[in-house]
Formats: sequence, structure tokens, C-alpha cells
Amino acid sequence: MSSTLESPSPLNHSTKSTPGLSVLKLPDPGVASKRVAREIGALIRQRASENRNCVLGLATGSTPIRVYRELVRMHREEGLSFHNVITFNLDEYFPIKPNAAQSYVRFMNEQLFDHIDIVRTNVHIPNGTIELEAVPGYCRDYDELIATTGGIDLQLLGIGRTGHIGFNEPGATQDTRTRLVKLDNLTRLDAVKDFGGMDHVPLLAITMGVDSILQSHRIRLLAFGEHKADIVQRAIEGTMTSAIPASFLQSHRDVQYLLDDAAAECLSPSTTGELSQ
Ligand code: F6R
Repeated sequence: MSSTLESPSPLNHSTKSTPGLSVLKLPDPGVASKRVAREIGALIRQRASENRNCVLGLATGSTPIRVYRELVRMHREEGLSFHNVITFNLDEYFPIKPNAAQSYVRFMNEQLFDHIDIVRTNVHIPNGTIELEAVPGYCRDYDELIATTGGIDLQLLGIGRTGHIGFNEPGATQDTRTRLVKLDNLTRLDAVKDFGGMDHVPLLAITMGVDSILQSHRIRLLAFGEHKADIVQRAIEGTMTSAIPASFLQSHRDVQYLLDDAAAECLSPSTTGELSQ
């Protein structure tokens, strides 16, 4: 497995129009997740050796779970410390209590934070319990806090079937900042399994904006499975459009897609040819 990690099949989709975008096709989600976890671990250690903080942008959902599992393993078995790490999560349902089964606070605690030595005050997740009137000010503060830390060093992303990143659903423009949004119906449908019925799925969420995400120094987007193949193709090969918010990543200077075979399946032969160079 480690030799595969050393030599993934690189699909370097670096065209004149998207010079900062690359695509790696990896044999399976485990290999892709370990690769990202190792990159994160190396960044944390490098920053620690310089006496600096490492600012991570984190995602929830099924996609990053293996990355978190690997980071926990690296903490336990390899002594990776998170004492210099500051985190900002992309999004949270609104309203929601932090101890609700579907809350992203609970998810992050269970998947990562409860198992590592992160300083709890360095963890930031949009607050699903604030009053509606307080949300705009809260969101401004969230973006400002990210900027105050020096910006996100590495942003981990998944992609929704609507083309959302964070909860920036179709219609979200490139200049959007952290804010309250309406969830797309397809996104709510995908969440039914977690909430046990469409009526229980929240209508709203707080999300970092497209621009908030694009401010990150590096972006790593993971996508696995054939149900992501079509949207991944449109996000990478299509024109940049608010109909597919993930397409705005094409404008970033250092964004890498890490895909398994199934998620890479719809990439066109011409792109794949280009990618194989
Ligand atoms: C989660 C998030 C979403 C998910 C996306 C994919 O914090 O921001 O954009 O990354 O919905 O979800 P999964 O990984 O469950 O397919």
C-alpha cells in the first residue's frame, strides 16, 4: 500500500486556464485519505518546528472520516501533536444543538477532537444555537477570525451532488462570505438518512462562503464513489459558474482533487489524456 502512496497515478490537470488545479486518481479512498493526512501531518510538524501555528479548514460528512481516523492514528502511534493547530469548520446546520446526533460539533468531537491533544479554544465550528438576528454579525466575526490567524493553511473539502462546497449551493457566487444559507433540496434529501425523515432535516445552515474558502492557501478536495463522478467532471472540466459552486475552485492557485477510480470515471478522454502527461 505504501508504494502506491508514493506513486499514485497523477493526472496533472494543469492547463493555461486552470494552472493551480491538479487531479490525483488513487486506487481507493483509503489511499487518498492517508495521502492527505500525511500532508496535513507534515504541515503541522513543519509549523511546530518554526514555532508557528497551523490553521486547518475542516469538513464533515462521510468523505473525510478516513482522514480523521488516520490523523488520530498518527497522534497515537507517531506522536503527532496538535498543540499548535487552529481549526475552522466549514459549516453547521441552523438551528441545531451541539449535542444533537446530527450536529457537526458532535461529529467533529467523535471523529477527531476527542482523540487528539488539540487546545479546545483553538477549535471553531459555526454556532447553530445563536439567535437569528445575531447571525450576520457572527458570520462577519468568523471570517475576521480566520483572517486574524493568518488565513487557512490547508482547507479540506468534500463535494455535494449539487456541486456545493461547504453548504454553498447552486446560485452561490464567487464573492460569497460566511453566511446563513438555504439548503438545496437534493442536499436535504441526502441528509434524510441522518435525520430520519425529510421533515426533520433543517432548511438552513451557516456556511463559510466561496470566497472564504478560496482565501485558503491550499485546498484538498476528496471525492469517492460513482455518485460523485458527474459533478466532479462538471466542476473540473466545465466553465466556472455559480450553478456549480465547486467550479470556482478552478481559479485557485493550489487546489488538488483526490479521487478514487469511480469518482474520476466521467472525466473526458481528452482531459484524461492531458492529465496523464
Ligand atoms: C460538510 C460539507 C459538505 C460535504 C459534502 C459531501 O462539512 O461542507 O460540503 O463535504 O456534502 O458530503 P459527503 O462527504 O457526506 O458525501
